[in-house]
Amino acid sequence: MTSEEDDRLVNPQPRPDDRIDHALRPQRLAELIGQDEVRENLHILIQAAKGRKEPLDHVLFYGPPGLGKTTLAHILANEMGVNIKITAGPAIERQGDLAAILTNLQAGDILFIDEVHRLGRAVEEVLYPAMEDFALDIIIGKGPAARSIRLKLPRFSVIGATTRLALVTAPLRARFGAVYRLNYYELPAMEDIVRRAAGRLNVEAEPDGVLEIARRARGTPRVALRLLRRVRDFAQVRADGVITAEVAADALSLLDVDPLGLDQMDRRVLHAIIDKYGGGPVGLNTIAASVSEEADTIMDVVEPYLLQLGFLERTSQGRVATARAWEHLGLEPPKGPQGQLF
Ligand SMILES: Nc1ncnc2c1ncn2[C@@H]1O[C@H](COP(=O)(O)OP(=O)(O)O)[C@@H](O)[C@H]1O
Ligand SMILES: [Mg+2]
Repeated sequence: MTSEEDDRLVNPQPRPDDRIDHALRPQRLAELIGQDEVRENLHILIQAAKGRKEPLDHVLFYGPPGLGKTTLAHILANEMGVNIKITAGPAIERQGDLAAILTNLQAGDILFIDEVHRLGRAVEEVLYPAMEDFALDIIIGKGPAARSIRLKLPRFSVIGATTRLALVTAPLRARFGAVYRLNYYELPAMEDIVRRAAGRLNVEAEPDGVLEIARRARGTPRVALRLLRRVRDFAQVRADGVITAEVAADALSLLDVDPLGLDQMDRRVLHAIIDKYGGGPVGLNTIAASVSEEADTIMDVVEPYLLQLGFLERTSQGRVATARAWEHLGLEPPKGPQGQLF
């Protein structure tokens, strides 16, 4: 990630100063706002496992960053009353690293693997029998004398999280009993999240002020909490500490977050497509090059929200800016066959 991307206020990926938000994390399923379908499904999953006195099924969460995957993993551990061991795909470099983690688990424990799509092949092969049969196959010796012994592991649960379901290998995905997609939050849920966080941060926020922040937070709780903290600073320094609609709007405009939550980076991407390529279609790599960003970054943290807003469409020939995108930038969308399409 480039440093500019790091600085983006609306970047949904975690930043060190988000640590403060961990205190705001919902601890229980009942405290979780939004994601109604996932919550209901998890409730059943938990009750069923408890009823059978079994560990939780292996669960995979996927969806854009900042929507609550890690939070849900912690909630599941709390609800099941078990320990959670936290790791991530890139952190498990060798088979032995995973073996060490697995042999330290206790019955019922949750092993949370973030960025599960980044596990190496060899490591994944150790994970398969562990998830399926709670067994660890160890090779002893080398060459013709080598033999494999099978260690029994306690029954545990893997919770995987990924922003890229397509990159999770089929055999790994098949070993998760439950797979849930997290979606961007609807506005009322976002308002709820901002209101509750303001309460816990002891900052007074009027309903319209809450709405203004919620609207600009890209349907992403992590972004909402970050915007709230910045607006709180602004309210304290420039106003009398109260977050009104005007204070929130002024603060966020000053921070270059527009009424739909787009910032300079989003607008640069749209402008690149529109100004340089007549609205597209244009390939992702070309867009990335013209805004001097990595294609992965565009794909992970810029594109999903533009797609969600209906500002961008993916076609087989590349990305196309829709009429809405032109209009949002104050431009006249082109007429003709392409204009009619969108
Ligand atoms: N449903 C929710 N209700 C309230 N806060 C939430 C919710 N989901 C996420 N958050 C907050 O948003 C932040 C990011 O959530 P996190 O679980 O770390 O996202 P992810 O792992 O998907 O990137 C956390 O600080 C958490 O407090
Ligand atoms: Mg996370």
